[in-house]
Amino acid sequence: TLRWITDPGEAFAWVMEARCAGRTTGLVPTMGNLHQGHLSLMEAAKAENDLVAATIFVNPTQFGPTEDFQAYPRTPQRDRELCEQVGIDLIFAPAEETMYPPGSLTNVQVSDLEEPLCGGSRPGHFVGVATIVAKLFNILPATRAYFGRKDYQQALLIQRMAADLNFPVEVRVCPIVREADGLAMSSRNSYLSEEERRDAVVLSQALARAEGLVAKGERDPHRVRLEMVNLLKSTDRAVVDYAEIVDAATLQPIERIDGPALAALAVRFGKTRLIDNALLSP
Ligand code: PAJ
Repeated sequence: TLRWITDPGEAFAWVMEARCAGRTTGLVPTMGNLHQGHLSLMEAAKAENDLVAATIFVNPTQFGPTEDFQAYPRTPQRDRELCEQVGIDLIFAPAEETMYPPGSLTNVQVSDLEEPLCGGSRPGHFVGVATIVAKLFNILPATRAYFGRKDYQQALLIQRMAADLNFPVEVRVCPIVREADGLAMSSRNSYLSEEERRDAVVLSQALARAEGLVAKGERDPHRVRLEMVNLLKSTDRAVVDYAEIVDAATLQPIERIDGPALAALAVRFGKTRLIDNALLSP
């Protein structure tokens, strides 16, 4: 049976008891409003661990002052039912005051990985992410923690943080789950109008174009980038925040695609900002 816990001490005790009894524990951090992307992480965690804990917390510190923190969809009852169906053992869903009591001062900054790509248009976002994930790793000291490649930069930064700060957790990164037309699943897709939703397929189409070009031998990142931007411009509803080809390990710009590279996109449709990415293997 699924346990719903809001107190960090109780969550810690639950994981410690499991670990001391020799049982492996998987951790799946989320902001709730669960969809198939989240559930795929939970399935992976179930398959690889004896027990699985999920967290549901819309983390205020990773939202900018003009971003959608207030509007972010919150669906706790449905989330609980989905977790029950998947067979999650524990949900940790703390209150905001519990996670950030007055007087909190400490932040985690993963230098160099927080600045490129989404770091440019979302200053402070990744400090908020790294800090909350560090806190969750301490509250729920799991064997393995699961993140989605949908948020490639986030997953990379968390892997780096776990290694740099010696968190005794194995960080696992899972594939992107997509809608039938290719749009990467996201809680923010629900903000899209009918027309925007139809046009949002250009993100995955642009990435498929990039993959196709590289598969055919194209090695010039600028030409690949231009092709992606041209495809994104096929709808005037799309406003490109960034479209980049970067080194897949450092997220820094490259002059030639001769090792693992990442094509990464952030595109606005009205007020909604969507991201997607694809690994390019030459
Ligand atoms: P959230 O956006 O709820 O996502 C929770 C996890 O689900 C993340 O690891 C994300 O990469 C993964 N995910 C989302 N959509 C996915 C998709 N279409 N396919 C595969 N995985 C997907 O990311 C966060 O929350 C927060 O930043 C968090 C890590 C919880 C820290 O607050």
